[in-house]
Amino acid sequence: MRLSEEYVAQTYARYPLLLVRGKGTRVWDLEGNEYLDFVSGLAVCNLGHCHPKVVKAIQDQAEKLIHVSNFYYIEPQIQLATLLCKHSFADKVFFCNSGAEANEGAIKLARKYAKERRGEDRYEIITMENSFHGRTLATLTATAQEKYHKGYAPLVPGFKYIPFNDVGALKNAIDSKTCAVMLEPIQGEGGVNCPSKGYLRALREICDEEGLLLILDEVQVGMGRTGKLFAYQHEGIEPDLLTLAKSLAGGVPIGALLIKEGISDSFKPGDHASTFGGNPLATAAGLAALTALLEEGMLENCQKMGDHFFSRLLEVKKKFSFVKEVRGRGLILGMELNMEGGALVKEMMGRRILINCTMGNVLRFLPPLIVTQEEIDQVIRALEEVFEGIC
Ligand SMILES: Cc1ncc(COP(=O)(O)O)c(C=O)c1O
Repeated sequence: MRLSEEYVAQTYARYPLLLVRGKGTRVWDLEGNEYLDFVSGLAVCNLGHCHPKVVKAIQDQAEKLIHVSNFYYIEPQIQLATLLCKHSFADKVFFCNSGAEANEGAIKLARKYAKERRGEDRYEIITMENSFHGRTLATLTATAQEKYHKGYAPLVPGFKYIPFNDVGALKNAIDSKTCAVMLEPIQGEGGVNCPSKGYLRALREICDEEGLLLILDEVQVGMGRTGKLFAYQHEGIEPDLLTLAKSLAGGVPIGALLIKEGISDSFKPGDHASTFGGNPLATAAGLAALTALLEEGMLENCQKMGDHFFSRLLEVKKKFSFVKEVRGRGLILGMELNMEGGALVKEMMGRRILINCTMGNVLRFLPPLIVTQEEIDQVIRALEEVFEGIC
């Protein structure tokens, strides 16, 4: 840990915890202490840590072929793209390495598509207050939270911000420069903010009327986290572009941009690329992860456990007046407090349970989708103990 302070760039305020092993819903530190992990590497380990099928796929692929250039066809890349398209609205996939990069690709494609069809001045993208889309300069600009912008001006031109869940604000914001609307179907980093009923459908209709692309960032809520493979599937709509990363390859870095028919033609060979994007190792892991997610009842478990967890959190809310709201869907759940939550995360860690806090006062729970009722009840008991301690 001392060497980390000395040699690793200090972009994270780290907890004094060094994790060396993981299995299912559990991780272990250097001293062998076991922790129940309700962070899942921030919505990465949806299948649990070290899922045997993902481990095996990585081992087998590493022995065969770790990397080749995208100048050549890559077998697991083709298989993963095929499976993603079969299970979504998309008809093409662009692979990259992270959520930010997937969103960067979506921004570039939306601009190119609109400029080709509607003229050079069609480049503006409307995003939502309290959104989070990544840390590259364009995705940072798309992220409508000032705290992330500080020190990085000038930002990328061509973004406009409106409040989340406000259809009127979108109508007012659209002008002759607008090319797309981009949002998370549930805002994760922004405090687990859910869309109100009919909001996404209204956005879809407005985009259709105005000829705009609807870009959904499912980097955090995709791959089963809400109880369906993709969060948009709850809403009876389809996006034009959708971004994925985090849990897509069971913990191996990957990103993907899913593209609706007709739009991907705006990317011609050479227009956009990534050296590592869709490489054999990452996509072999992705193929194993997606197959396991679809075949092992994880979506059903996520729905069931999500409902149980939500109702248990509501019980906690009733007992403690400083709990303002419980919100979320499936196994992305947030508990908004009338006070800072950072110290509570440390208290839970002392009880060997990992949780997260976002926006300063929203406890965020992101357990693996294989979580059991007993594990949820254990977290609730610990949370109540911690809450009683501060009453
Ligand atoms: C919704 C959303 N989009 C994009 C990102 C950025 O992903 P990455 O850190 O892989 O670049 C995140 C990361 O938390 C996210 O939650």
